[in-house]
Order: sequence, then structure tokens, then C-alpha cells
Amino acid sequence: MSKEHLQEVVKEKYGAAAKQVAAGGVTASGGGGELSCCDPITKDLYDASQTAALPKEAVAASLGCGNPTVLAKLQPAEIVLDLGSGGGIDVLLSAKRVGPTGKAYGLDMTDEMLTLARENQKKAGVENVEFLKGAIENIPLPENSVDVIISNCVINLSGDKDRVLREAFRVLKPGGRLAISDVVVRGEVPADIRKSIELWVGCVAGALEEFEYRDKLFSSGFENIDIEPTRVYKVEEARDFLSAAGLDVEAVAPRVDGKFMSAFVRATKPHPKTACRAPKG
Ligand SMILES: C[S@@+](CC[C@H](N)C(=O)[O-])C[C@H]1O[C@@H](n2cnc3c(N)ncnc32)[C@H](O)[C@@H]1O
Repeated sequence: MSKEHLQEVVKEKYGAAAKQVAAGGVTASGGGGELSCCDPITKDLYDASQTAALPKEAVAASLGCGNPTVLAKLQPAEIVLDLGSGGGIDVLLSAKRVGPTGKAYGLDMTDEMLTLARENQKKAGVENVEFLKGAIENIPLPENSVDVIISNCVINLSGDKDRVLREAFRVLKPGGRLAISDVVVRGEVPADIRKSIELWVGCVAGALEEFEYRDKLFSSGFENIDIEPTRVYKVEEARDFLSAAGLDVEAVAPRVDGKFMSAFVRATKPHPKTACRAPKG
């Protein structure tokens, strides 16, 4: 699939999800067709104290696989950017954490999601938020302008992950932090099985293997790279979906269990190296 076609498929999928929420429904993360209340990927990511103050449509549109706003340790006055902000749940939570002297940007390419997110912002009555239209492969912000980049289950959807990571590096200030939740694969998984699991999780373009992820972050210039599993999927959770795809669940289980996970991916943009002067005399 070409990168352009892939983006169209992703836009269509999330455009439909946004419309579903706007019509009073809830969303499904992957291809499993389950609702987010019972979906093993999206369920129980936020505690009630976080969601109580949010519009119900922002919560209903939650399609992430982690809770980057908690893990990112956001501080007052920071500038935050959420890559693939969807219905805006993490942007609204970030805005609260950085307070009125900070700002939270959401970036998304799907019009219906941007409309939903802006309505959610209005309902939440939050002012230090701005939703931008654009692709995460081409971030519409200047270099060195953001303290923290968060993202929740979006990088796996991109057909050009190197470019996304280079763009994230560019817009971060020196010392800035990347703090994202994403689906990650641990170790080798046969291609056909991998494809079915990724469809179940909802990864259209394919999740990165853990060491591949580290290599890409390192090549983009990041340091202090860390990948921490937050939820490891069991093949049992995908039983119905995998059976319908023609896979023998008992046979594939030992080759898959423990290999697909939601993870928290951290890295920092280094400060420029200062030149060392030779001591005089
Ligand atoms: C899985 S949803 C996650 C939404 C949100 N982060 C959350 O936790 O609910 C993916 C979102 O990323 C957006 N998206 C996917 N690929 C993108 C890209 N290449 N550029 C910009 N937005 C993208 C989709 O439109 C969708 O709103």
C-alpha cells in the first residue's frame, strides 16, 4: 500500500469513528469490532478522577493504548504537542496539567476528529488548547518550540515512522521530552500471524519491533531512550477475531503470547554540545 493510500485508509477509519461518537456512540480501537468499554486495548486507561471533568464525547472517542499524560510528568507552563490527538482526551488532560501559563497543541489529519476535538474543547471550557490540522510526518510548528511531545497509539499507524521521529526531534526544544504510548512488538513473530494480530490491535501500517524502535529513535538524534511495557496482550483476548481470520488460536498462542504490548516510549532531545576550550598555559 502506498503512503498516500495508507493515509486515506486511516482518515476514513478515524473519520467514521469520530462521526460515531458525534452521533452518541462509542468507538472501537482495532478490527475486533468491540466497544471501547470492553476493548482490551483501550479499556481502563484513565481513572475516574481524570475523566470526571471531561466532556463525555472526549472520553467516548478515546482510542489510545496508554495514558501518556500521566507518564510524561507534565509541569506547569510547559508547551505540549499531542501527535494524532483524535477526540482530544490527552490534549485536554495535558492542558490542565500545564495550567494557564502553558499550552497544549493537538495535531490530527482527520477533519471529523478535529471537529469533534474542537467541540470537546468548547464543552470543557479550556482556553490553553489549539487543535492543528496536519500530518505527523510534517508537523506544522517551528523547530525548538515544544517542551513535551505525547502521542497515544498513533505512530504505529504511520507509513513513514522515521520521518515522524525526525519531525518530533525537530520541533522539540533542546532537553525536550518525547513521552508516547504505542503498540510495540517484542521479538520475532511470523509475518502472517503478525498481520492478523496487528489488524486486531488496529495497527494499519504495522507496529515496530522494540529494538527497531530504539534504533530509529537513536538515528533521529534522541538519547535516554527507554521502552517500558504497560500492557502485554494475551492471544486469548483476540481469540474470536483470530479464529474468524482462519488462524488456529491454540497453535499460534505460544508464538504470540507476550510479544505484542502497549508500551511507554521515552526519549529526550540532547542539549547542543558546548565546545571544550583547552586550558590556558
Ligand atoms: C488510534 S487514534 C488515537 C487518538 C487519540 N490519540 C486517543 O488516544 O484517543 C489515531 C488518531 O491519529 C490520527 N492520525 C493517524 N495517522 C495520522 C497521521 N499520519 N497524521 C496525523 N494524524 C494521524 C487519526 O486521525 C486518529 O484521530
